[in-house]
Amino acid sequence: MAGATGGTAGGARRWREAAGEALYGPEGFFVRHAPAAHFRTSVHASPLFAGAVAELLRRVDEVLGHPAELALIDYGAGRGELLTGVLAALSGQPGSLAARVRPHAVERAPRPEGLDPAVAWSAEPPCGAAGLLFANEWLDDVPLDIAETGGDGVPRYVLVEADGTEHPGEPVSGGDARWLDRWWPLPPEPGLRAEIGGPRDAAWARAVSCLDRGLAVAVDYAHTRAARPPLGTLTGYREGREVRPVPDGRCDLTAHVALDACAAAAERAGAPATGPGLALSQREALRALGVSGGRPPLALASQDPAAYVRLLGRAGEAAELTDPAGLGAFTWLLQPRGIPLPPPWGVHGETGDRPSG
Ligand SMILES: C[S@@+](CC[C@H](N)C(=O)[O-])C[C@H]1O[C@@H](n2cnc3c(N)ncnc32)[C@H](O)[C@@H]1O
Repeated sequence: MAGATGGTAGGARRWREAAGEALYGPEGFFVRHAPAAHFRTSVHASPLFAGAVAELLRRVDEVLGHPAELALIDYGAGRGELLTGVLAALSGQPGSLAARVRPHAVERAPRPEGLDPAVAWSAEPPCGAAGLLFANEWLDDVPLDIAETGGDGVPRYVLVEADGTEHPGEPVSGGDARWLDRWWPLPPEPGLRAEIGGPRDAAWARAVSCLDRGLAVAVDYAHTRAARPPLGTLTGYREGREVRPVPDGRCDLTAHVALDACAAAAERAGAPATGPGLALSQREALRALGVSGGRPPLALASQDPAAYVRLLGRAGEAAELTDPAGLGAFTWLLQPRGIPLPPPWGVHGETGDRPSG
């Protein structure tokens, strides 16, 4: 970091405020740009992802006992692509599920033209619903402050100018200092950084508590207390490429998520109805929901070449979604509220690891 300890160069402010304006202000990056124009999420990688969410919704519906109205809330919905994909996946299925689903996009950007009129759209979540709340790559875009240990061994807020130049600010204090102590203790070595996750904890707890009964799922690049990245993960994305994080409204500003802290916050806020979060990799989650990267049998190539090519394409997409070195390494946090986890994780199935920390 440039600048003297405690210096406040003109225009420099904390990262949370700077990123909040750069992403969501009147000229903010996400207000002006569709996320898909700049980076590829699992939603865009393959319709298999929406198919898996449709399957998860079906299992939540079972556990809820087939309510007359089943909410499907997509938090941080982009341009509604996931909801569109889930509705398409459900429309081909037998039974009453498709008719009972109430799709709702929660998104700060305006409603896109041409979206299915059945999809409700709002900047705030609907409250009191029963169903599935799904947040794919939302929490990593909730702005937060950054701390860096100074030459004196004290964690200080990082201040940033509009061109991305950073300066050390005041020592981290109050609730932020308590959050660091609990979730991301910074050793006294100069230059170590932490992303102060309190705003994400609060955002997730609030989202989960809007569900009356059901399952809330957050999917993101994540880390736990046992293995925080020593220099943090803040970065930028523009036009498909990773770029230096600059809060000028021209790039996404994203940092991996301390999902263990989010899970604990939701559990505290929802007690006693909100169950402990279950964290697993996207690879494990998608496999449990029937997405497999297995190749079709070679014999099919001569028996039915068109089917073989189609299944080969699906296998390639499934492999991308479950790649342990790519999208498969995302964490799924499953947090039930007022119901048991759906199969295979709950009810009559096995349970997995609880996020540690
Ligand atoms: C990385 S994009 C992900 C879009 C989509 N879920 C996907 O996976 O393709 C994050 C989205 O979350 C939205 N977002 C961020 N904070 C939000 C909030 N507090 N309420 C609603 N939407 C929010 C942004 O506007 C952006 O469209």
